[in-house]
Amino acid sequence: MLKNDLVLRAARGEDTDRIPVWLMRQAGRILPEYRATRSRAKNFIEFVKSPDLACEVTIQPVDILGVDAAIIFSDILVIPEAMGLPYQMIEAKGPWFEKTIQNKNDVDALHIADENDLRYVMEAIALTKKELNDRVPLIGFAGAPWTLFAYMIEGSGSKTFSKAKQFLYTQPQLAHQLLEKITQSTINYLKGQVKSGADIIQLFDSWAGVLAPHQFYEFSLKYISKICDAIQPLAPVTVFAKDAHYAIGEIAKIKCNTIGLDWTIDPATARAQAGNKTLQGNADPCLLYSDEKTIAAETKKMLSAFGSQRYIANLGHGLYPDIDKEKVKFFVEFIKNYKP
Ligand code: CP3
Repeated sequence: MLKNDLVLRAARGEDTDRIPVWLMRQAGRILPEYRATRSRAKNFIEFVKSPDLACEVTIQPVDILGVDAAIIFSDILVIPEAMGLPYQMIEAKGPWFEKTIQNKNDVDALHIADENDLRYVMEAIALTKKELNDRVPLIGFAGAPWTLFAYMIEGSGSKTFSKAKQFLYTQPQLAHQLLEKITQSTINYLKGQVKSGADIIQLFDSWAGVLAPHQFYEFSLKYISKICDAIQPLAPVTVFAKDAHYAIGEIAKIKCNTIGLDWTIDPATARAQAGNKTLQGNADPCLLYSDEKTIAAETKKMLSAFGSQRYIANLGHGLYPDIDKEKVKFFVEFIKNYKP
């Protein structure tokens, strides 16, 4: 039995006696403890593949920041790698793939991954679950198929993801075949995560915002929905489609429990469109560059606008590396002490 199950209760639409909070990218570079653990691995990939190190940095924010959930330390790019596209994480630049997907042969050559290809994540989850000792829930995650597709075509990050979008316009059938393979791999992977101990799952569609609405529905939400159909009977699912706030009404129709929001939508508008789904978000991470008085005032506005039920407080995207951890602690404490 979990000692603190507030995040799960909120996701399931049950009453919570205070608003739960966790932070995207809480396991990361704002903590000197993270950097110390990271330096024990040869590089980022080896770090991700070391269950004991991953477990350590997953638990650090629970101890240091006092958040109401842990999120397993890994990366969304482990799926492309397991399917046959290895990547490197280049310091200060981000991910880079030596091989990308160009044509049908490339798509056909990809392997449909399953949990056995990602044993190291399963081990990290099982170990973390044990070490957490039921203090807080453990969040498992995956990239949404469109976001993974974008990296697999583009080969790196991009402002426009124009190569990936070109693929949608010029090879739509093949795009669907690739998205289907990613979806099947992701379903296998997430089933394994839940079996290994993940209490709740989040899908990150970080690049939803480069798509036009009709493309988002056809090439992204359709596949997110398939994943929700397969996973939601096993664990609550959160869908975070960054910059796709026009789609909240459509996301509310699929089998997810929680809709993650970025800061470009106000809470009342989101509530009006989200039906009875739980909402998560949506403070601008840059708020945490300001002073405590401003953080308190803006956070209070956010909390009262969302209301205290069916709500999980979070940022609207991940923490930036240069945010002061004391400000992060202040934000978390403010939310935990908030009384409506
Ligand atoms: O704390 C957590 O949120 C859990 C761990 C986590 C990481 N990546 C670790 C990481 C999670 C949930 C992710 C998801 C992820 N990875 C996304 C979706 C969320 C989002 O931010 O939009 C994306 C797009 C990626 C791909 C990725 N990984 C990029 C573009 C980069 C480089 C840029 C950056 O933000 O550093 C990474 C590297 C990465 N993944 C780091 C961490 C802690 C930084 C690596 C380091 O220097 O230690």
